[in-house]
Amino acid sequence: MVKKKIKILGISGSLRPDSSASAVLGIVSKLFPANVDFKIYTGIGEIPAFDDSKEIPFPVAGFIKQIEEADGVFFCIPEYAFGVPGALKNALDWTVSGTAFSDKPVALITAASQGQKAHAALLNTLTALGTKINEDATLLISFIRSKLDENKEVVDIATLEAIKKLVESFIKSVEICGV
Ligand SMILES: Cc1cc2nc3c(=O)[nH]c(=O)nc-3n(C[C@H](O)[C@H](O)[C@H](O)COP(=O)(O)O)c2cc1C
Repeated sequence: MVKKKIKILGISGSLRPDSSASAVLGIVSKLFPANVDFKIYTGIGEIPAFDDSKEIPFPVAGFIKQIEEADGVFFCIPEYAFGVPGALKNALDWTVSGTAFSDKPVALITAASQGQKAHAALLNTLTALGTKINEDATLLISFIRSKLDENKEVVDIATLEAIKKLVESFIKSVEICGV
């Protein structure tokens, strides 16, 4: 019998071309087992400002569809001005009144200079959205720039091990959710 592939959607909270958070998401993408189909959502910057419009804008509908189709969602975010990057928070606000994230297994890595505040804030938002978030699937990486080399590879062994452990634990929890 052919085993079904696990679909994971990756979302970076940074739109910067040189983003450390996106680099960490790239590192994560190489750690998934072969039965994982990993896709990165790149449309956060095209989502219009949330206005509770009953007519869902096209980019928002696409965003919601990709979340619904995923077995799990993997976030990697920086911290800006003590908070979650605005574009990501705006995109998530569109999902509050729906069920796209209900019982959806999610993982969160915050990669920032410090990051505690954005990490805690996004965990609160993910709880408000009704996601399934296990502590083993969350990781705060402070001083991120000192942990990546010029090719954006992780040079800090402990950090790499922590990312590997998180990925393993997250995939197990997605499998338990009945993929
Ligand atoms: C506009 C801006 C605001 C920032 N504010 C914070 C902050 O409040 N706390 C923090 O820990 N790091 C802060 N940083 C540092 C970023 O977290 C760090 O540079 C991170 O690597 C940037 O993520 P990115 O490369 O994925 O965009 C800020 C960086 C920028 C560009």
